[in-house]
Amino acid sequence: MRFLLLFTLFVLSAAPAAANPVREAAPRSPAAIEAAVGKLLGRMTLKEKIGQLHFPSLAFPHEPQIEAVRRGEIGAMLNVVDPRYIKAFAAAARDSRLGIPMLYAIDAIYALKITFPPPLAWAATWRPDLAERASYEVAREARAVGVNWTFAPMVDVSRDPRWGRVIEGAGEDAFLASAFSAARVSGYRRGGLATSVKHFVGYGAPEGGRDYTGTEISTPELLDRYLPPFKAALEAGSETVMASFNTINGVPVTMNRALVTDLLKKQLGFDGFVTSDFVAIGELVNHGVARDLEEASVLAFKAGIDFDMASGGYDLYLARAVADGRIKMAAIDDAVRRVLRVKYRLGLFDQTAADFDGLPRAVDEVAVRQSAREVALESFVLLKNENAALPLTSATGTIALIGTSADSAQHDHSWWGPAGHQKPETETLRAALEKRMRPGQTLIFEPAFADPCGRELKDKAAAVAAAKRADVVVYNVIEDCEIQGEGVSRAKLTLSGRQQEMLDALAATGKPIVLVVETGRALVLADAERQVDAILIAWHPGTEGRTALAEVLTGEVSPSGKLPMTFPRSEGQIPISYNLLPTGRPFTGSRYTTGYVDEKQTPLYPFGHGLTYTTFAYDEIVLSEPKMTVRGEIDVDVTVRNTGSRAGSEVVQLYTRQLVASRSRPVKELRAFEKITLKPGESRTVRFRLKAKDLGFHDDAGRYLVEAAPYKVMAGGSSDTALATDFLITRE
Ligand code: NOJ
Repeated sequence: MRFLLLFTLFVLSAAPAAANPVREAAPRSPAAIEAAVGKLLGRMTLKEKIGQLHFPSLAFPHEPQIEAVRRGEIGAMLNVVDPRYIKAFAAAARDSRLGIPMLYAIDAIYALKITFPPPLAWAATWRPDLAERASYEVAREARAVGVNWTFAPMVDVSRDPRWGRVIEGAGEDAFLASAFSAARVSGYRRGGLATSVKHFVGYGAPEGGRDYTGTEISTPELLDRYLPPFKAALEAGSETVMASFNTINGVPVTMNRALVTDLLKKQLGFDGFVTSDFVAIGELVNHGVARDLEEASVLAFKAGIDFDMASGGYDLYLARAVADGRIKMAAIDDAVRRVLRVKYRLGLFDQTAADFDGLPRAVDEVAVRQSAREVALESFVLLKNENAALPLTSATGTIALIGTSADSAQHDHSWWGPAGHQKPETETLRAALEKRMRPGQTLIFEPAFADPCGRELKDKAAAVAAAKRADVVVYNVIEDCEIQGEGVSRAKLTLSGRQQEMLDALAATGKPIVLVVETGRALVLADAERQVDAILIAWHPGTEGRTALAEVLTGEVSPSGKLPMTFPRSEGQIPISYNLLPTGRPFTGSRYTTGYVDEKQTPLYPFGHGLTYTTFAYDEIVLSEPKMTVRGEIDVDVTVRNTGSRAGSEVVQLYTRQLVASRSRPVKELRAFEKITLKPGESRTVRFRLKAKDLGFHDDAGRYLVEAAPYKVMAGGSSDTALATDFLITRE
């Protein structure tokens, strides 16, 4: 109410429009944009230039900020999602001396109103086209309220599920992450948003999985593992890049000129702008590399951070640094040019008052829901399915559905949740399953917990009694939303709260159990795995997710997701990934060979793993040629057959290994994949093209090498591949 009143007062007392420049049609071609940017820059005062290089921390009421916009001192805002305020900011920007339009930023990632599953689940679909569509739908919802800049995609490769932010990325593999990075940038941009690919770079490798801690990354690791998804995003047109919070080899990225200016801007030719992360410039003081915010701001700016997200230092100190020569005006101009270029590219100079009058615009909710459902359906990963526990057929009889979450309409357990204000209708798993009960089937429900995240038990005895009356137990658990996302790392990755304790009691009944796990990371499910017949990873399935879950549990739709992250057996195996380097002493079980003495060497479920309601055989791998030159290409044909009695989808995965190289190379690297659907008995040959130029790696000096050497190519339905053959790369 107070908010509304202040807003009304502001609208009534807004100053009359100042001299508003006459608008010419905004330029479109790159050359015309450069000319327009140059011309505009020439008219700007230093104060106006610096205004383009920061936004303040979100503060209510907005009126002082709106006045600062009118004076040309702020060129962007964060987290303004109320269209009335966006209109007021836009009007103030139009009224400012030069009428430069604003950027309105939020973390529009997978939810405004309708919540999609989070990006880790998108990667589990192995369908970049679905991620493109999901990004597009999210972007349209954001654009409908006036937002035009999203802080997405997050493309940090991570091999450490203790790190809470794995939920926002595409998992452990650079190739898979690059495919999703490009798709997400394209989708958000098609929906009308500028993107900010983040967090440049290496943020996914924090020591011990603890968020914000330092990373130690060698040049080859940086260039081969962490950089590729950023390159993919830039190729897809990401207008901005967000620098990460972390240090790399001791130097915070926020002041790292070698990475931000030399690598990103010069080597990769990025001509959009680089923003800091939230208050990261101020945090250089905490990193112990600057005495105060002024020194931090100068350090960050000189490193190439064009835009200050909410630290306030650019606004306060850049002008002084220009006056006393610490910063050159040419450097300020370069940063401003980058920001203006993005604003022109987005078409913001074309906007008129009328563009803001219609806010918020209607979005076709049916289409958004449909996409959200499709992503959820394709993202579920069936880790285990013994004794044909799934799908729940009419022969199942009585089903005990256990878990408060199964009767909860809360659909936003994932980290970013909906950035908008409305809560969409959502079906519960209980309701969705009840609808699907066939004659002879009965569903009994027991919540067991006091809350959906299973923090406190409420009635364990009733849940056990229900299990005893049932033929099968469907137990729905959720990784507590409070323990994932930014700033939340876990040392223990077992089921959170009291959920394992409840599972122990259910398992003691001896009834078959289907475990449905909602999570934003890879968990340690070794105990659970011994206790249940089936495990379905549902990630956080979002607004349409519980309906999708019922469809998959009852077999209307078959699961088809594959893991984008390895599921370890225990926390001690972390960091973990499929693409390790070989050792001089491969594990044999005897002393002085690599591995753990108190743990198996394999993960619980490998990268790429996922079952469905049918089975597949990998019959053959055939190369078009046994060798190619360093500039050559060969085709790899992989024949897959559906050996079960139902139709089903399979992600056919192709991996390579360089067998002899100038440095040790990973035992396997994903090179291609394709999701196919086969009828029972149907066989298909999938053709992949391998290009020698894509099989190289970087050395310590940062040179990219494609070596003439023997290689192995492997194919299968997971990184635990079924087929292999060898080929050669020759110099000529
Ligand atoms: C900090 C996070 O690291 C970043 O990903 C996010 O975009 C900003 N906060 C703004 O919300």
